[in-house]
Amino acid sequence: MSSAPQVPDILSPEFAADPYPAYRAMRESAPVFWHEPTRSYVVSRYEDVEYVFKDRNGEFTTDNYDWQIEPVHGKTILQLSGREHAVRRALVAPAFRGADLQEKFLPVIERNSRELIDAFRHTGSADLVADYATRFPVNVIADMLGLDKTDHPRFHHWYTTVIAFLGNLSGDPEVAAAGDRTRVEFAEYMLPIIRERRDHLGDDLLSTLCAAEIDGVRMSDEDIKAFCSLLLAAGGETTDKAIAGIFANLLTHPEQLAAVRADRSLIPRAFAETLRHTPPVHMIMRQSATDVELGGGAIPAGSTVTCLIGSANRDPERYREPDRFDVFRDDLTTTTAFSAAADHLAFALGRHFCVGALLAKAEVEIGVNQLLDAMPDLRLADGFVPAEQGVFTRGPAALPVRFTPAG
Ligand code: HEM
Repeated sequence: MSSAPQVPDILSPEFAADPYPAYRAMRESAPVFWHEPTRSYVVSRYEDVEYVFKDRNGEFTTDNYDWQIEPVHGKTILQLSGREHAVRRALVAPAFRGADLQEKFLPVIERNSRELIDAFRHTGSADLVADYATRFPVNVIADMLGLDKTDHPRFHHWYTTVIAFLGNLSGDPEVAAAGDRTRVEFAEYMLPIIRERRDHLGDDLLSTLCAAEIDGVRMSDEDIKAFCSLLLAAGGETTDKAIAGIFANLLTHPEQLAAVRADRSLIPRAFAETLRHTPPVHMIMRQSATDVELGGGAIPAGSTVTCLIGSANRDPERYREPDRFDVFRDDLTTTTAFSAAADHLAFALGRHFCVGALLAKAEVEIGVNQLLDAMPDLRLADGFVPAEQGVFTRGPAALPVRFTPAG
């Protein structure tokens, strides 16, 4: 086992400001090392992170979510394994692909995006993070669930608290207490709505979850509440960072922005490359079920393993010139980028592969198309240089842009 590398610690401000040099040093000199503050083994190379996610030999569990997320959500499919996971996942997965996505939810996505853009299209300036990216995906999920639009700001508050709890690597007691409050508030809000919806099923996602049944298994009120809480966090914060990320990458590479503007079929490529180059989720944990050999070292059974997606996706053993953002790179497969056969690791791989990947793709395609249409000469505000923030989830902090206002 390598000893901790001589790089800024993953909990330090230097690392938060720019983790990429530290990732490189870890991959080169300490691909798997014990990190005392998080009491976990940190894994940084592509092949090792891929190995943990695919888990072909049944060596890893997601029991880490028992402490990482259950205290705010309740128990969700992220924690389950085997048949129990497969059955629960099959209950919810159809809502996020195929006919349900195409027929029911694309109009919801289009409407929510347009409403946000209409608020600034005549002004000539906007912050694509504050005015659009942080609101769009969470509004979509709330709307898909058939919840009251006037409650959107509360959802925004809840999901940021949940994500802060998940990424609370240093154990900040205020973050933990805010997570506790959110669990109580969200349950008080959601449980009466679920009970009411069971009696008046409609065409929305919440009704689908209330009615879903596979092999005689149905979701309890508590299951549904927990899943809605997971959706807000897993589908809100991640897609928010993805949309901000794709624009930050394109705005800082104007020739690639021009190419995407001219040929919109390049949007999925630009999204896939953004997921590789600047993934919204930088860290995912697992628990070792047995003693495991990894990256030349031994990880004992019962350990927490921290997989650095942000590092693995920039491993030069897997991608040429990995720090370069290049929509046209030929070593990233776009056709599989939104399925469990993806080669980038931004959605994880294996049985917990992101169930919302196609929904995220639909949101990004619609969002990017509508924004490019509304802002023909879109550019960054003069002198602004985008900066990322976050260590667990990561994305541009702000993205002030200028454009000729719609007439
Ligand atoms: C670009 C956007 C997104 C990214 C980068 C992302 C990332 C991820 C990752 C890394 C995982 C795996 C977690 C693990 O293995 O421990 C995951 C799982 C999951 N994601 Fe996403 N996600 C995105 C969008 C969404 C959306 C839009 C939804 C739904 C509204 C969603 C719902 C879920 C759910 C429910 C799981 C758990 C699946 C399971 O345990 O079987 N995600 N996501």
